[in-house]
Amino acid sequence: MSLTQRDASLRELMDDPACDPAKLRATLRRFETINRLVSRWGRVYRSRIRPFLATLDRPARILDLGCGGGDVIAQLAAWAESDGFDVEWVGVDPDPRALEVALNRPVPPRTTFLCADGSDLLAADERFDLVLSNHVVHHLTPAELGAFVGQSRELSRGIVLHSDIERGRLAYLLYAIGVTPFAPGTFLRTDGLRSIRRSYLQGELAGVLGTPWHVEKSARFRLLAVAPGTAGG
Ligand SMILES: C[S@@+](CC[C@H](N)C(=O)[O-])C[C@H]1O[C@@H](n2cnc3c(N)ncnc32)[C@H](O)[C@@H]1O
Repeated sequence: MSLTQRDASLRELMDDPACDPAKLRATLRRFETINRLVSRWGRVYRSRIRPFLATLDRPARILDLGCGGGDVIAQLAAWAESDGFDVEWVGVDPDPRALEVALNRPVPPRTTFLCADGSDLLAADERFDLVLSNHVVHHLTPAELGAFVGQSRELSRGIVLHSDIERGRLAYLLYAIGVTPFAPGTFLRTDGLRSIRRSYLQGELAGVLGTPWHVEKSARFRLLAVAPGTAGG
């Protein structure tokens, strides 16, 4: 098996509407542990989100587009609260099964989880200071990705941050070993390994997104796509 080419033909088990609901719930709940271990939002919070919030002279609104079980918002909300920032958080996911998991976790203060996507929020005239996502980019077809990133910019009057895996052989091998204690009863092994094979290299993602997106390596095995929002002040 080669990782030199992105394998966009692979489908993740969790994307099957008919997948085992108990395994899907367990997978979405356990994303909290996996995200803490691999997603490195602490770095993004310190390098991008905290400095941005410090420039605002009013309460901020932050959107997690494709929030899954809601754990990324919970973690970011805890950091922002301990830094004294006044933030309203919104997490949306078009999959009602993900929303059910988000709503059944302890919901942080000033946080709303909704079953929606970017086009629903634009139609409802919702706007945010910062729009972010985690592990959504590699799931999408080229047409879906174009719509997703375009909508994320239209929804933001500040910045947009999409975080995802960078494909690589070492990431694949380390994940295959490291996921073992967390995998039973979930789709984490199959879907995580497929996710890595579906993910981009830095140059590939920069090429697909085009101007004005900037794609940086935010940590080992991580890409962060950054662009200004277009919603205006
Ligand atoms: C691998 S999960 C990641 C969930 C969560 N962000 C996390 O990091 O744990 C990918 C999520 O993207 C959502 N998704 C798929 N297409 C989407 C779209 N066009 N807009 C927003 N979310 C989408 C799926 O429903 C799924 O919950």
